[in-house]
Amino acid sequence: MTPLLETRGLSKTFGGLKAVQNVDLRVEANRIVSVIGPNGAGKTTFFNCLSGIYRPDGGSILLDGHNIAGRAPHEICRRGLSRTFQNIRLFPEMSVLENILVAQFQRSSKSPLSLLLRSRYFCGQEKSHREEAFSFLDFVGLAQHANAMSGSLAYGLQRRLEIARALATKPRLLLLDEPAAGMNPQETVEMVHLISRIRELGLAVLLIEHHMKVVMTISDEILVLDHGVPIAHGAPEKVRNDPQVIKAYLGEEVAP
Ligand SMILES: Nc1ncnc2c1ncn2[C@@H]1O[C@H](COP(=O)(O)OP(=O)(O)OP(=O)(O)O)[C@@H](O)[C@H]1O
Ligand SMILES: [Mg+2]
Repeated sequence: MTPLLETRGLSKTFGGLKAVQNVDLRVEANRIVSVIGPNGAGKTTFFNCLSGIYRPDGGSILLDGHNIAGRAPHEICRRGLSRTFQNIRLFPEMSVLENILVAQFQRSSKSPLSLLLRSRYFCGQEKSHREEAFSFLDFVGLAQHANAMSGSLAYGLQRRLEIARALATKPRLLLLDEPAAGMNPQETVEMVHLISRIRELGLAVLLIEHHMKVVMTISDEILVLDHGVPIAHGAPEKVRNDPQVIKAYLGEEVAP
């Protein structure tokens, strides 16, 4: 069966730096696959290649069997791959609800201009879009903040809004780049719960996360990168005890 996502020999260099080297990965629908590795291992670069922010230098990226390597981010998004960013990228001067509405417009082929100009088409669609937007906000627990300025939300809530915004493009594969970064233990537990619920919606999730407890608890499989090179791949128990992984993380805690 064709996997939802498959990378073959994916590579990206910056000048002389091989940031991602020959990564082969298959992600099936409804799976949570984590990408871990020390700082600078190439995790975010890998996501940037998948989501079209960087054009890979080599290899292929098959989404539902179609090679999307080098395609524009909005095209990849329309094909069903959406993401969040390591450094939150919301529209801070827009309301929480408006951040979702913009994402919905990204999915439809209508110009965001019609959102700004409030065209007749837009007004006709607005009610159903708003209802749908509320359902995404409700899903991540932000419905009561719909009219707040997104930049005024607490940090943990902004991370949730980023996820709601990514979900609003109706992806089949969601890429989360350190969704629990900077969160306290309680918020981290809630984030794990949210990611599990996203999988229950039928989505596949590719997750970059430094909290080992989160990774080991939630992942079906884990890919480990070190200096851009895949050094281990498999079930959490296997990866946790892999000598190469322990060596790459020397001084850091791999086991929860
Ligand atoms: N646009 C760029 N130009 C030049 N070098 C880059 C660029 N983006 C990333 N790099 C380099 O590529 C390597 C991998 O970076 P990347 O951000 O992918 O790592 P990471 O695994 O996400 O790290 P972290 O855990 O700190 O987020 C690093 O050496 C980084 O400095
Ligand atoms: Mg990163």
